[in-house]
Amino acid sequence: MEDIILEGKQIVKNFALKKEVFWEKQKILQAVGGINIQLRRGQTIGIVGESGSGKSTLGEILGGLQRPTSGRVLYRGKDLAQMNREERRQYRRNIQFIFQNPKESMNPYFTIEKILTEPMKLLDENYTPDYARQKIAEILPQVGMEPDCIRKYPSELSGGQCQRIAIARALLLNPEIIVCDECVSALDVSVQAQILNLLKSLQRRYGTSYLFISHDMGVIHYMSDYVLVMVGGKIIEQGEGAAVMRHPAQAYTAQLINSSLFREDSICAAL
Ligand SMILES: Nc1ncnc2c1ncn2[C@@H]1O[C@H](COP(=O)(O)OP(=O)(O)OP(=O)(O)O)[C@@H](O)[C@H]1O
Ligand SMILES: [Mg+2]
Repeated sequence: MEDIILEGKQIVKNFALKKEVFWEKQKILQAVGGINIQLRRGQTIGIVGESGSGKSTLGEILGGLQRPTSGRVLYRGKDLAQMNREERRQYRRNIQFIFQNPKESMNPYFTIEKILTEPMKLLDENYTPDYARQKIAEILPQVGMEPDCIRKYPSELSGGQCQRIAIARALLLNPEIIVCDECVSALDVSVQAQILNLLKSLQRRYGTSYLFISHDMGVIHYMSDYVLVMVGGKIIEQGEGAAVMRHPAQAYTAQLINSSLFREDSICAAL
């Protein structure tokens, strides 16, 4: 279909485990076991599952940070493995990541301005210092940050503020897709709600697609149009977000729903 912008076909990722002793037979861990996924323009696919189920590995493969052992990733119908340099640059620009601990993804010796400018320097063909300054000035109010924060260092910002900067950094490249990997898991519930609502409003404005990874079914339900439930590298259940939430087919999914820490009423409380 035409509006599919990112597709994974039969994605497999195996890791060779470290041997305890050298004569031991090589053991292989299958982190992702043959997953098919199609992300459409403006859609949010939620990927939920317990720790170690392969969510991040899948997200990183789809976002080009890791290569699959087998299977194919297609961006706008084009196989990643067959892209030329320019196509790869376009892809890199159009898929951005937001991770769990924003401070860890920022150089502590860089000011916020430099942190926001660097990716544009690398990936945006329109880059000039003036262009970067103007774009940063436009984006900061959209993520709820004051203009003077650009002179600060990451250590001078709170976790929630840093995550807003990480979102701004991703948005500055006008990406089509953002992979959000546990992007609110380290934040307290009221800040979680602010960040989730910010991501939703930015999606309405820019039509961005999200791959939204979380172990918390409440967060996944709040954000996602479509949900994949992963166990041991495989999808055990998938469907429209509301349908999976209301009528989970698998006992495991029901268990995830019951153990969710995030409640939508906390969003009302935070507004
Ligand atoms: N570089 C690696 N080398 C070896 N094993 C790895 C590597 N990266 C991931 N794994 C293993 O692959 C499996 C899936 O890991 P992954 O990080 O994708 O899980 P996850 O669902 O994101 O977990 P979490 O919720 O804890 O972030 C785990 O068993 C993990 O130990
Ligand atoms: Mg992970």
